Amino acid sequence: MTVTIVGSQLGDEGKGGVVDLWGDAVDVVARYQGGDNAGHTVVEDGTEYKLSLVPSGAVRGKVGVLGNGCVVNPSTLFEEIDDLRERGLDPDVRVARRAHVIFPYHRVLDGIEEDVKSDSDMKVGTTGRGIGPTYEDKAGRRGIRVADLLDSEGLREKLEYVVPQKQRLAEDVFGVETGEEFDIASLYEEYKSYGERLADEDMTVEAGQFLTDRIADGDDVMFEGAQGTLIDIDHGNYPYVTSSNPTAGGAATGTGLSPGIVGGGEIVGIVKAYLTRVGSGPLPTELGGVVGDTPGYDERGEGDNEDVAEYIREEGGEYGTVTGRPRRVGWLDMPMLRHSARTNGFTGLAVNHIDVLSDLDEVKVGHSYDLDGEEIYTVPATTERWSDCEPNFRTFDGWDDVNWSDVADEGYDAIPENARAYLEYVSDELDTDVYAVGVGPGREETVVLENPLE
Ligand code: IMP
Repeated sequence: MTVTIVGSQLGDEGKGGVVDLWGDAVDVVARYQGGDNAGHTVVEDGTEYKLSLVPSGAVRGKVGVLGNGCVVNPSTLFEEIDDLRERGLDPDVRVARRAHVIFPYHRVLDGIEEDVKSDSDMKVGTTGRGIGPTYEDKAGRRGIRVADLLDSEGLREKLEYVVPQKQRLAEDVFGVETGEEFDIASLYEEYKSYGERLADEDMTVEAGQFLTDRIADGDDVMFEGAQGTLIDIDHGNYPYVTSSNPTAGGAATGTGLSPGIVGGGEIVGIVKAYLTRVGSGPLPTELGGVVGDTPGYDERGEGDNEDVAEYIREEGGEYGTVTGRPRRVGWLDMPMLRHSARTNGFTGLAVNHIDVLSDLDEVKVGHSYDLDGEEIYTVPATTERWSDCEPNFRTFDGWDDVNWSDVADEGYDAIPENARAYLEYVSDELDTDVYAVGVGPGREETVVLENPLE
């Protein structure tokens, strides 16, 4: 049995909580893309764990796998593992030998490129973790993989090839003075020692084989997507995307399992009951004005509704887990979700943060867009065309704040009627059942209608 958890929007849909909820019943939790750009918050017995790389299942004693589709910053990896150990946990994390490694120069180059773009609409608003430059090197066939860290001679040779190129790029093309992040000798020593630790702790695996063997032994596996469909490099709103495939297809290429295995299991789309975005790019249903330095913002639709944006941001704690940036906020966007449901083939939905919207007089949903005088129901292929879309809103009556812990205990019928109408609309539009409704941050604050693992 496999379950793939995919963000259906722009990331930060509360995937970590869902992985944690159902991850209890699986044996292995595997990430298939991304790196330490992923903020996962897991609350366990009132204790909050913030992870950016280690699969969140590790908090619950599951085997965590970072698949070949991931990019791994070993410094973050060991920091998170050491922190969990200090807090009394014993995380079992395996890393694909084929996964690519993030080096300090990748982070520097990420920052340089964002700076260069900062005065234009081209700035992506990356997390600054070096994700894009690392995937660039992967595609450019000059990347350094996890297995290379365990082969000290090969590591030195690869660094000697790639680092001078990166240094020239930084210095000669971008005109930036470089520092120790480009020093081959110190990079070699540091990364060789990460390789030694990976070997000592027997952490590296051929991910596809490892997972195949576990499945053959009867284990249940969860694939934990990071980020979301609309920031997928292929299916998101390019160029305001991350550099990997958070969509369900990525779970096959990013682990080494066949599409049949992923597609033969459940694929659960995680939906936040409203929208947030941390980086640049269009957000047709955006509420309120620009937050911080997020270019690409366009003041239309509900753009003057700052009070509601602020209310949702505060109620939902909508600040980036990785960067602490205030998130942009918008109403739920159905064209986006239709695009997402088609791309991923959701078998079920988990709708989170329904509690955050309580006490609003009304709750809106972008039902469709107007584009060139025509009503459209899904997202156009280009960011420019998406920016031209004007949302057509549907308005739902709001619902009162209630004791959501009681609701979680009592079940679906205890959810306020207007909130249920909202959920049923989403389910009908996407022709997909709601498996779970998140009514608070803890995993026990979830109303489960159907468990995909049963
Ligand atoms: P990168 O992944 O750091 O290269 O950032 C590329 C884009 O993806 C930026 O708009 C980021 O804000 C966004 N992004 C990356 N990781 C996350 C995440 O975990 N949640 C939400 N947005 C993310």
